Amino acid sequence: MSFESELQKYEKEIKLKDGSSCKLRPLRKEDEKGFHEFFLAVPEAERMFIKHRVTEPQVIRDWCRNVDLGRNLPLLAFIGGKIIGDATLHQQLGGWKRHIGRVSVLVHPQYRGRGLARALVTEIADMARNLGLEKVEAEFIGEQEAAIKMFALLGFSNLLRLKDYVKDMQAGSHDYVLMGLDLKTDEEYAGMG
Ligand SMILES: CC(C)(COP(=O)(O)OP(=O)(O)OC[C@H]1O[C@@H](n2cnc3c(N)ncnc32)[C@H](O)[C@@H]1OP(=O)(O)O)[C@@H](O)C(=O)NCCC(=O)NCCS
Repeated sequence: MSFESELQKYEKEIKLKDGSSCKLRPLRKEDEKGFHEFFLAVPEAERMFIKHRVTEPQVIRDWCRNVDLGRNLPLLAFIGGKIIGDATLHQQLGGWKRHIGRVSVLVHPQYRGRGLARALVTEIADMARNLGLEKVEAEFIGEQEAAIKMFALLGFSNLLRLKDYVKDMQAGSHDYVLMGLDLKTDEEYAGMG
């Protein structure tokens, strides 16, 4: 069975810290409206953390109509049919960085502090490991302190920080931070001893 059809069947139920349960599954074509609403719930000040113009319906439409999970794998979290979180695994599929996946994560403001980002990133890192990737990285602007702290708690280390390296949509400069995690398998660790 192909990787894509295998992933289309993936569905998982997880429990959050407050006891509520939430469903995880990859993005589908029919999520266009819900995914757009999810991004609209992000406060404007925080949208500069996101690389794309996600409030524009066309951007989300393109993503939903051209789902290619082998390249971009958005793992969505749902409560009662509403999208409350997303962690995406981006892959290069060739070139120098073909063994490195990139992870991004966003949690709906009303559902933060319940362990959802931690669960989503852990799940995405497991998927990356199962896909045979060797490392995952995550990119931030310097002000994303909560996210940087959370990735550090999950074992990511700081790889570099470049001062005033990136620009937001209003052309303001920000530090660029790159973090990374090695995805060693248990067998590889066992072999090291
Ligand atoms: C960063 C973000 C993803 C965290 O989501 P979340 O679901 O609230 O995070 P969790 O509840 O899983 O928290 C995990 C850990 O991070 C830490 N953390 C989360 N939010 C924090 C905050 N605002 N300040 C300090 N620490 C924080 C907590 O200590 C928590 O550790 P614990 O489980 O030991 O208590 C969320 O705030 C967000 O979407 N921010 C905007 C987008 C962003 O910055 N994305 C990252 C770019 S890749």
